[in-house]
Amino acid sequence: MAINTGGTAVPPEEYLRRQFERDVIAGLSSRQKTLPCKYLYDETGSKLFETICELDDYYLTRTEAAIFAYALEEMAEAVGNHVALIEPGAGNCEKAEPLLAAMAYPDAYYPLDISPEILLEAQQRLEQRLPDLNVVPMVGDFTQPEIWERLPQSDTRRVIFFPGSTIGNFSPEQARRLLNTFARHLNTGDGLLLGADLVKDSVILERAYHDSNHITEAFNKNLLTRINSELQGNFDARAFAHRAFYHSLRQRVEMHLVSLAEQEVSVSGRIFRFAEGETIHTENSHKYTLPGLQALLRDTGFSPEQYWTDQKHHYAIYYAQVL
Ligand code: AVI
Repeated sequence: MAINTGGTAVPPEEYLRRQFERDVIAGLSSRQKTLPCKYLYDETGSKLFETICELDDYYLTRTEAAIFAYALEEMAEAVGNHVALIEPGAGNCEKAEPLLAAMAYPDAYYPLDISPEILLEAQQRLEQRLPDLNVVPMVGDFTQPEIWERLPQSDTRRVIFFPGSTIGNFSPEQARRLLNTFARHLNTGDGLLLGADLVKDSVILERAYHDSNHITEAFNKNLLTRINSELQGNFDARAFAHRAFYHSLRQRVEMHLVSLAEQEVSVSGRIFRFAEGETIHTENSHKYTLPGLQALLRDTGFSPEQYWTDQKHHYAIYYAQVL
């Protein structure tokens, strides 16, 4: 089975390990210590995230699923016939499957992800369930230009499918850059189907990121365990507390790890000092208003065409076309 991994001089695992090491050292060396949230998703982190998605407190996944369930036909119609669907960060491709099944004569499906194993498994499943569909998995980081340049050229209409409120984990500036990248690799009339979490009561937001089952706490702290095992770190996860709060001015939930004591930690042979109460900022989850989402789409070369939301207006899915 062919899978497009691009060509790198060093083995992909070693390349990713070095990048992880560079990012961790840079993040822990900055004044506000920080770690990029993409590293939350190693094998354990991805499983914990799947559990988070099933929690009562984490309303995002079930709200988005309910919108897909009621509006799938309309979405498939908006996306159009004979379209190639591209999904950045596709993972197990579970969200795309019902959409692909509802679409008329989808031309191809390009799931993009950093994990070849997950992509291969999904490709096998999709080829069984949708035998007429041409599934073309692409391994790589969708935030980097390289994977977009590897996408085969064709005259087929393309639609980028970006559900899950992943856009919220990018700063507004990064989100603009990402949507600009999307627009640059599409043609006029091509589309974007984008899911985003909306601004709402801070109690609901904070409960979603500080759940009563403590799964988000384990998800956040797993980053320290990952650094210990992959970068010879000696973090004591018990010496850090999980903190998540809504910053209303910045319209984002921030996730931090708070040092419970003055301590020193070693990572890849370097020492990092923590004061008591000092934090590592591990994630931002930006929330949008409907006008804010429309402005983001317009600023990045899209024309917002149609949106679907739930009754409480907790979540929205937009269909936009490239101008
Ligand atoms: C993947 N992403 C959209 C999740 C979010 O809600 O920002 C990640 C997450 N972090 C903590 N809980 C869930």
